[in-house]
Amino acid sequence: MEEKINVLILGGGGREHAIAWKVCQSSSLNKLFVAPGNAGTQVVAINLDIKETDFPAIKSAIIEHNIHLLIVGPEAPLVKGIREYIESDLETENVRIIGPSRAGAKLEGSKSYSKDFMQRHSIPTARYGKFNRDSIQSAKEFLSTMEAPYVLKADGLAGGKGVLILEDLKEAYQALEAMLKDGKFGNAGESIVIEEFLEGIELSVFLLTDSNEYVLFPSAKDYKRIGEGDTGLNTGGMGSICPVPFADVEFMNKVKDRVINPTINGLRSEGVEYVGFIFIGLMNVGGDPYVIEYNCRMGDPETESVMPRIKSDLLPILWQCAGKELEEQTLEEIDQVVASVMLVSGGYPEAYEKGKFIYGLNQVENSIVFHAGTKISEEHVVTNGGRVLTLTAIGQDLNQALSAAYNDAQKVSFEAVYYRRDLGFDLN
Ligand code: AMP
Ligand code: GLY
Repeated sequence: MEEKINVLILGGGGREHAIAWKVCQSSSLNKLFVAPGNAGTQVVAINLDIKETDFPAIKSAIIEHNIHLLIVGPEAPLVKGIREYIESDLETENVRIIGPSRAGAKLEGSKSYSKDFMQRHSIPTARYGKFNRDSIQSAKEFLSTMEAPYVLKADGLAGGKGVLILEDLKEAYQALEAMLKDGKFGNAGESIVIEEFLEGIELSVFLLTDSNEYVLFPSAKDYKRIGEGDTGLNTGGMGSICPVPFADVEFMNKVKDRVINPTINGLRSEGVEYVGFIFIGLMNVGGDPYVIEYNCRMGDPETESVMPRIKSDLLPILWQCAGKELEEQTLEEIDQVVASVMLVSGGYPEAYEKGKFIYGLNQVENSIVFHAGTKISEEHVVTNGGRVLTLTAIGQDLNQALSAAYNDAQKVSFEAVYYRRDLGFDLN
């Protein structure tokens, strides 16, 4: 990179704060903007009060602030076609973008598309069938050929809530009708995927690709359920750790050979341009990787643990990738372990209140605070979402990292704060 660049990050969660925190350390950065951002991003960047799916306002901001690189954090603008919108306009066509085309984002936007894609390219995944309102009977027949637990997934985007895992066949029939007949999950559930249950331990693998080369990012593990011991409702993620102890060289070589290479080659052979992150949700089934899902973005709260683990300057790599000139390289990583504990609003992932004063942030000693649902109200940081912030700490091993994060988590409080105290329980 010859000149310093202006960067705009779209999104307002912990993931975007963590990306902003990393990018703002780069000597190649001129100015950093985040839209809409949160109370944390405004410390390291300039927040713009623009919704991440308001394309005309984003375009105006790109022009006004002379943005060179647009990094798209969440999936919604990608699935809606932000890349096409920015690229097809003469005023913004030269802006480099991290984030795939709408066709690439379909890997996340449609479960049936992504399952068919995996099948076409012999990528290991759970056996499945896809059904819609006109094939309820065949869906029931298919279900009866499966063993419990039964996995039903709404085809479209459902904010991580469109997956049901049920023990009982009758319950599965009912859920199927609720999705296909009664519109549970709205449009997202108009068609569904039913798949075999995979028994194993999950991890999140991340890569950045320009369709030709790719750079592997550190793998992470997130904790999705609200309750300790992985119980209760699914959430956006209650914490994460990086790296993943069982993602050793042997396992990662299988992931590269069986999943990453066929995915990148498959996209290319089908003419899908993909410039951005691919997040592969994998199940380690007895030492073999199976794809649970693809996402067209980084994970949240995985990013909060992945970014501090990276030693390399990330901005030149993002710039190369977005310019479709990514060079083969290995990211430099620190040797230590990173853990992030997510503090959430009481009631989340169901109804919760916002606007609660957050106390104790200035007492945090050994963690980075990545803000998610926070904002400034009358000069005070208040809650503004279900997932509020992470305490992210670095340690010589997982236990050290977790104790540092938990120690700081105790000092931060707001009304009805909740967090899981058992992160890492499955890794000892
Ligand atoms: P997804 O939105 O497809 O990632 O699914 C949400 C969560 O449901 C995953 O993170 C898994 O924990 C679980 N899950 C999804 N599909 C399966 C499967 N076939 N077998 C076991 N667990 C699954
Ligand atoms: N942590 C899972 C996700 O970002 O989808």
